[in-house]
Amino acid sequence: MRALFLTVFACAFAAAGCRQDMHDQPKLRGMRGSAFFADGRGVRPIVPGTVARGHLNEDELLHTGKVDGKLADVFPFEITRSDLERGKERYEIYCTPCHDRTGTGNGMIVQRGMKRPPSYHIQRLRDQPPGYFFDVMTNGFGAMYDYSDRIKPEDRWRIAAYIRVLQLSQNGTLADVPPAERTVLEKEQAQ
Ligand code: HEC
Repeated sequence: MRALFLTVFACAFAAAGCRQDMHDQPKLRGMRGSAFFADGRGVRPIVPGTVARGHLNEDELLHTGKVDGKLADVFPFEITRSDLERGKERYEIYCTPCHDRTGTGNGMIVQRGMKRPPSYHIQRLRDQPPGYFFDVMTNGFGAMYDYSDRIKPEDRWRIAAYIRVLQLSQNGTLADVPPAERTVLEKEQAQ
């Protein structure tokens, strides 16, 4: 019994001593000052040109919307129906508060006093390449702040593709509708 007691006591003593050493060792804490460095900061400034792991962003088209510094007329990946559906969903979350669901620029925030954005259906914006919409979302535009920290690049492209859908939808004619659907529309129109 006595031997057991001594062993437990010795272990506890050893462990406590060890813990104390770890507490007292010299170390730097994030955001706490340091007398060691000349600038007095514990956190060291990042070496210029440092790239965080997973943020190399080498693909110019995917990450900047440009090819050789010019706004891209193409998408960095093939746009499928599911990309458009995802684009619609993201657009309705992030853009409709100001641009509204059809893109005319009369969203609820605009009705409450925000500067009214131009409609996506004006000729100037219909003539813009997809890279332009990607760029506006990535860097902001005038009174509009950027979305680069909230929407990942792939989704920004899907939204750009969905803006194309909206532009088509507002400028389509009956001739753009497949014949099978046309009769349905004509019937509805006649009612
Ligand atoms: C809080 C309101 C608001 C939200 C949300 C918003 N925008 Fe805008 N947007 C604006 C305003 C305001 C302008 C006009 C800015 C200016 O001319 O100063 C604008 C302009 C634009 C333009 C036109 C730029 C041009 O050349 O005239 C595009 C394209 C655009 N926004 C896309 C988007 C997309 C895509 C989203 C969603 C990811 C979005 N916006 C979300 C307010 C908003």
